[in-house]
Order: sequence, then structure tokens, then C-alpha cells
Amino acid sequence: HLFEALLFVACFLLGSIPWGVIISRVFYRRDIRESGSGNIGSTNALRTLGKRGGAAVFLLDFGKGLLAGALGLAVANWLQGALFDGVPGALAVGYSMHLSGDEAILAGAATIQRTCTVAAFMAATLGHIFTPWLKFKGGKGIAVAVGALFITFGPAAALVEIAIFAVVVALTRYVSAGSLAAACGCPFIALFVFWGHPLSVAACLVTALVVIWAHRGNIKRLADGTERKLGQKAA
Ligand code: G3P
Repeated sequence: HLFEALLFVACFLLGSIPWGVIISRVFYRRDIRESGSGNIGSTNALRTLGKRGGAAVFLLDFGKGLLAGALGLAVANWLQGALFDGVPGALAVGYSMHLSGDEAILAGAATIQRTCTVAAFMAATLGHIFTPWLKFKGGKGIAVAVGALFITFGPAAALVEIAIFAVVVALTRYVSAGSLAAACGCPFIALFVFWGHPLSVAACLVTALVVIWAHRGNIKRLADGTERKLGQKAA
């Protein structure tokens, strides 16, 4: 549990890097928080800085999520290595399946992998939303969460999340509506991916609820009819 706590802190710090603020300040000599929605994410970067700035912020936010997930997997492999008497973790699962077929050890390895990658996903997303570098007022967590989900859920389920997002944005032209739909879908996909593991599903549910809470301003604007549509420039 010490290693999982350390992993959580490392992923939180990774998620807390406010790329939107860094890119806007360094390359555009302005602060993204002072225009458009005021959010530090790639939607507001696109609105405020243009396509290149938007793409850069998206890739960096997505990338830090992916990296957090990869860190979770690396720690899991390392811990599995200890479980399998020093055989490197990723290979160990395969070895034990063929050589010993020990169900208990296999289940232990799967638990370690799930716990580490779910912790990485949750920590990176919360780090982005509650970044200590911006007095805990960070972004909304979508790009970083999807990056981490590629590892935590696996690519297929992460692509389902992206598809939900893309379909809703295409239909409504509201990025926030797509983000909210993807956040609502997350616990259901978690239920499918982590069937029989209520703690992992609960961690995904809590993360999704925090992401929805971070969109409270968007929810109000969507209800008022004042939300900015995709492609609408910053005022
Ligand atoms: O992921 C953020 C997006 O859902 C909303 O961004 O800038 O329109 O508040 P924004």
C-alpha cells in the first residue's frame, strides 16, 4: 500500500502540470484563464489560442494522463515481479499461467494491475482538477482522464469513451455536452471492465462525479442556452 500511495502522489503531481497555462504564457504571452471560459483545458485553448495551441494543450494533457497510466502499469509490473519471486511482472503472468496455473497468484497479479492503474487514472485526473500550482483551481479533467483510460480501461474501452464524446459533440456542437456524456459513461464502462470489483468501479464513479462537478459552470450555461458552441471564438 505504501507503493500505491507513492504512485498516487506521483500521478497527482503529473496530472497537476497546468499545460494550458504554461503554453499560453510561454508561446502566446497571455494567460488562457483570462479569456473564453477561463478554463485551462484544450477546448479553451482552441477557442483562445487557435488550432495549434488547442492541439498542443490537448496532446500534452492527454500525454500526462497516458504517462500516469503507464507509470501505474510499470509499478504494477514491478510489484508483480516481487509476487513472482523476481520474474519481471509482465512476463510473470504468462509464465505462471503456463507453468504453474496458480489461480490465486494470477488473481493477485490482476488485482495489483487493476489497483495501480485505477489509482493512476484517479490521481492524474484529480491532480489536473485540483492543481496545487493554481491554488487548487485547475481544469475539468477530460483529456487527462481519457489519456489514462487508455491504460486503465484498455484501448478498446477508451475508444468507446471517445466515441461517446465525439457523437455528442457532433450532434450538439457543445464540447462540454460531449465531456459530460463521456463522464457519465465512465462508471458504466468501469462496471463492465472491472465486473466483480466494486472498489475499482467506485473509484471510477467518484472520479467521474468530480469531473461532472468541475463542469458545473458549463451545466449552468447549457441550461441557460449561453454555452459556447464548438468553433465559437473567445469573447
Ligand atoms: O473538457 C472541457 C470541456 O468540456 C469544456 O471546456 O472551455 O468550454 O469550459 P470549456
